[in-house]
Amino acid sequence: MKFFVDTADTAEITELAATGLLDGVTTNPSLIQKAGRDFIEVVREICGIVPGPVSAEVVALDHDGMMREAEILRKVADNVCIKVPLTIDGLKTCKALSSDGTMVNVTLCFSANQALLAAKAGASFISPFVGRHDDVGFDGMQLIADIRTIYDNYDFGTEILVASVRHPVHVLESAKIGADVMTAPPAVIRALFNHPLTEKGIQGFLADWAKTGQKIG
Ligand code: G3P
Repeated sequence: MKFFVDTADTAEITELAATGLLDGVTTNPSLIQKAGRDFIEVVREICGIVPGPVSAEVVALDHDGMMREAEILRKVADNVCIKVPLTIDGLKTCKALSSDGTMVNVTLCFSANQALLAAKAGASFISPFVGRHDDVGFDGMQLIADIRTIYDNYDFGTEILVASVRHPVHVLESAKIGADVMTAPPAVIRALFNHPLTEKGIQGFLADWAKTGQKIG
């Protein structure tokens, strides 16, 4: 399972990339606003930190406008992945860009039928928003399972990128279902490393080691 971080904070990205476990980055207009930096400049910097796909989202709502913005974004770096919303114009844009060999992430997916359309449009990634799905009383994980079944039924190459991940259980369930990628905020990724028994175990071993009076090296 690939791990992407969902942020435009380059300090956080640099720190997580140093673990060697980060496969890509996703951004969206809200995350760019939060970072308070120039969009193109920050995307260029992120692309230099992480060699994997870096999603940068168009904001135009019409096909021609999306194509114009995508043209600018894809010139920023080879690893830019153009993010488009799951609308008719978004999927038209996805089809045109993917036919041209450009990586496309189709975002704001809330149904398995929408995911089916994105796969038919040649998307590299489909981003179902599990947290926002849960927020309104639906089962985000059932959505992931349904998309997995449909994509496997037809051997679609589109990768399921679980987005709007809010906690480690979303990551666990996504991995059990066989989602290809998950993108989570830095805090959720850090939480995956932690377990109180790991910390307790380290403290116990260190206390006993100190009693031996030995050193390694
Ligand atoms: O990248 C989009 C997505 O991950 C949004 O998450 O927590 O705002 O629903 P959230």
